[in-house]
Amino acid sequence: MDAELTARNVELPGGPIRLLQPAGSAELPDDGGIEWAPIAPYWSVLWRSGVALAREVAGSDVRGLRVVELGCGLGLPSIAAARGGALVTATDADPEALELLDRNAAADGVELETHAVDWAEPEGLLERGPFDLALAADVLYDPAPAADLTALLPRLASEAWIADPGRAAAKPFIAALSSSRATRTTSGVVTVHRLPASGRRPRGERGQWRLDDRAI
Ligand SMILES: C[S@@+](CC[C@H](N)C(=O)[O-])C[C@H]1O[C@@H](n2cnc3c(N)ncnc32)[C@H](O)[C@@H]1O
Repeated sequence: MDAELTARNVELPGGPIRLLQPAGSAELPDDGGIEWAPIAPYWSVLWRSGVALAREVAGSDVRGLRVVELGCGLGLPSIAAARGGALVTATDADPEALELLDRNAAADGVELETHAVDWAEPEGLLERGPFDLALAADVLYDPAPAADLTALLPRLASEAWIADPGRAAAKPFIAALSSSRATRTTSGVVTVHRLPASGRRPRGERGQWRLDDRAI
């Protein structure tokens, strides 16, 4: 990676993570209006949804779970899950994100796998599944890729935790993945939606979300 990197600490339950990030993107804090678009690769920004999801994971028991993160960017939730003893596969369409996540995870002393995955071509990832838990932070902003992701999740994991800062585009997709067993926690503008598969299935088995035609 050619970009100059800068280090920052992010506070999590269980201790801070020291994260390397492209210096130009570190000057772009995600703390203003929700619908902004940084002039930087999206993976390189520290999005508040990624921080919120990492905090949710760090405060939960994920020991032994098979966890996959989609659109991981800097991958804080993946590092938090690996710290908690999960077996983590972190994915993003952009290989540069994965290169930096490998480096940040190694510096934190945790092990995880990284794979380049585009939600439109998920076959290789599906072969690695099923997973117990899928994580995704601020990935539902562009309708066509969001539809790919929403179609992929039920095939991939028994439960998904999706962090969303209240994007208008995200609402129908979250509704499509929700069942009566969905729960949520909100901190600031970010809501973490815990979306279990609708069937009563033990962890480790492929889940079946109800995807009806009301939303997408
Ligand atoms: C807004 S950023 C969020 C990054 C990270 N989850 C966070 O919260 O910090 C969206 C991420 O989704 C990834 N992404 C966008 N479209 C994708 C696609 N079709 N397949 C896989 N990843 C994608 C981008 O590369 C980027 O890392």
